[in-house]
Amino acid sequence: MGLLDDKVALVTGAGHGIGRGHALELAKHGAKVVVNDLGGSVRGEGQDQAADETVALIEKAGGTAVADYGDVSDHADAAAMVQRAVTEFGQLDVLVNNAGIVRDAVIWNMVDTDFDAVIRVHLKGTWSTCHHAAVHWRGRAKSGEADVGGRIINTTSGAGLGGNFGQSSYAAAKAGIVGLTQTLALELHKIGVTVNAVGPSGLTRITATMPGMGEAFEPNDIAEDDYHPMDPSNSSPLVAWLASDQAAHVTGHVIRSIEDRIIWMQGWKERRVVSANGKRWDAASLGSILSQEVFETRAPGMRF
Ligand SMILES: NC(=O)c1ccc[n+]([C@@H]2O[C@H](COP(=O)([O-])OP(=O)(O)OC[C@H]3O[C@@H](n4cnc5c(N)ncnc54)[C@H](O)[C@@H]3O)[C@@H](O)[C@H]2O)c1
Repeated sequence: MGLLDDKVALVTGAGHGIGRGHALELAKHGAKVVVNDLGGSVRGEGQDQAADETVALIEKAGGTAVADYGDVSDHADAAAMVQRAVTEFGQLDVLVNNAGIVRDAVIWNMVDTDFDAVIRVHLKGTWSTCHHAAVHWRGRAKSGEADVGGRIINTTSGAGLGGNFGQSSYAAAKAGIVGLTQTLALELHKIGVTVNAVGPSGLTRITATMPGMGEAFEPNDIAEDDYHPMDPSNSSPLVAWLASDQAAHVTGHVIRSIEDRIIWMQGWKERRVVSANGKRWDAASLGSILSQEVFETRAPGMRF
């Protein structure tokens, strides 16, 4: 019995890179996979049928998959990809939101339409597929399934968790995905749906846009049992496990998967608290207290 036998998964942006790795891994463990990808450039321009190549790789390995060429940032396309899972394979069990683009620039050079495009694909695209999957699972719960066992695995990144120079749009979208993940974990808990965010790594088309990174890999460029630190599929075993029945107790978490490490991240926590003892603070005297008792240096929040 495979880890994901009888499961039906939708992986967005699975025509290349990390998403292709997830789709191959889920299929390897028995899931039937809807391989979504709009295609096009790393900036989200153009369109092609990149999903076909991933489907062919899955079928060659003996798995079952179907291509979907929809745009995750289009609410109707997102509905259609969830529906494709139901029409082709009977239901949806696992949703992996991975599709992404980058249009990097420092904020004074960033064009507002580029900001909108990045937010639309990552944040709205993740919200839209989650919405349609939630409607599907809630429908099943209402018709009597006590625990629908749904799984959502969203994709965040180091930029969203700690900021990154030149990536204000991408970082805002990826941080937004964390808030979305935590909220959906609360909203969907009762019907047995888990929601987590994974922060992957790998030398893909996206990371290859950064200076000095070299040529992008595809997961199938590396032999199945070989390890390479930049393999885009290094996080795929974690995603497959989160998708399985074994991970029913794991929800609302942010987990990074960097090279050979899996890192459970800790969210915002209170660091220091000062109280005005039942009075309203006075702005003119507040500075001396905050400087002495809270902020030791000029900018303690900054990483650099
Ligand atoms: N590569 C890394 O180190 C890294 C690190 C952290 C997070 N991520 C995230 O991992 C995810 C995958 O990125 P990647 O590095 O594999 O890059 P990639 O370019 O190889 O893959 C992204 C895929 O998403 C598809 N896509 C883009 N817009 C789409 C849309 N509107 N609808 C459907 N598909 C669309 C692209 O066609 C592409 O196949 C992204 O969300 C990215 O932000 C990557």
